[in-house]
Amino acid sequence: MKKVTLYIAASLDGFIARPNGDTSWLHDKSFTLPGEDFGYSTFLQGVDTTLMGNSTYKAILGFDIPFPYPDKKNYVFSRSYHEDTEHVQFVQEQAVEFVQQLKQQTGKGIWLIGGGQINTLLLNEGLVDEIILTYVPVILGSGITLFAHGVQEKKLRVVNSLNFSNGFVQLVMQ
Ligand SMILES: NC(=O)c1ccc[n+]([C@@H]2O[C@H](COP(=O)([O-])OP(=O)(O)OC[C@H]3O[C@@H](n4cnc5c(N)ncnc54)[C@H](OP(=O)(O)O)[C@@H]3O)[C@@H](O)[C@H]2O)c1
Repeated sequence: MKKVTLYIAASLDGFIARPNGDTSWLHDKSFTLPGEDFGYSTFLQGVDTTLMGNSTYKAILGFDIPFPYPDKKNYVFSRSYHEDTEHVQFVQEQAVEFVQQLKQQTGKGIWLIGGGQINTLLLNEGLVDEIILTYVPVILGSGITLFAHGVQEKKLRVVNSLNFSNGFVQLVMQ
């Protein structure tokens, strides 16, 4: 059975992007720690599949870099039809059932990349096994929330926490 991990970064006030989708605040130079990737490459090696909403996919395309996960099986959720590409397969219908079946497979883990809408859809269905949340010490005031409207109450257990000298705090929760 494959584990679904939401691995994501948020501002102190719980936003994953500015209202216009901008995430450049995550990569502010003042947060750079030489030789430190906050566990990203190790995490990436442990997954063979990614899940993302279409807004997140479009944001990735807007970065104007080669598709960042070419060696993974990448699924993009959308309510409308899109042609699959070299790197991604679109999931249009029965997203929840699709993920339930995916989890039955064997192999490495599944990275739930986001964003807030897909996080909420899968969390409410009990399909998120783990959340690795990196809090970034910035208050944005408004933006796209980690979970969208309609997220259900859920109590989590913190199984690990890490402090980085740039102020990032990473919580591993189940
Ligand atoms: N800080 C971080 O680490 C981080 C990580 C990930 C994402 N982000 C940011 O988060 C933002 C996007 O988040 P978001 O909440 O606006 O959108 P999202 O969850 O990425 O995607 C929303 C889209 O998913 C599709 N969708 C939603 N529910 C669905 C369902 N039940 N079945 C099938 N498809 C469904 C719809 O696509 P259609 O409109 O095509 O139907 C919807 O517009 C971006 O700016 C991204 O950069 C930040």
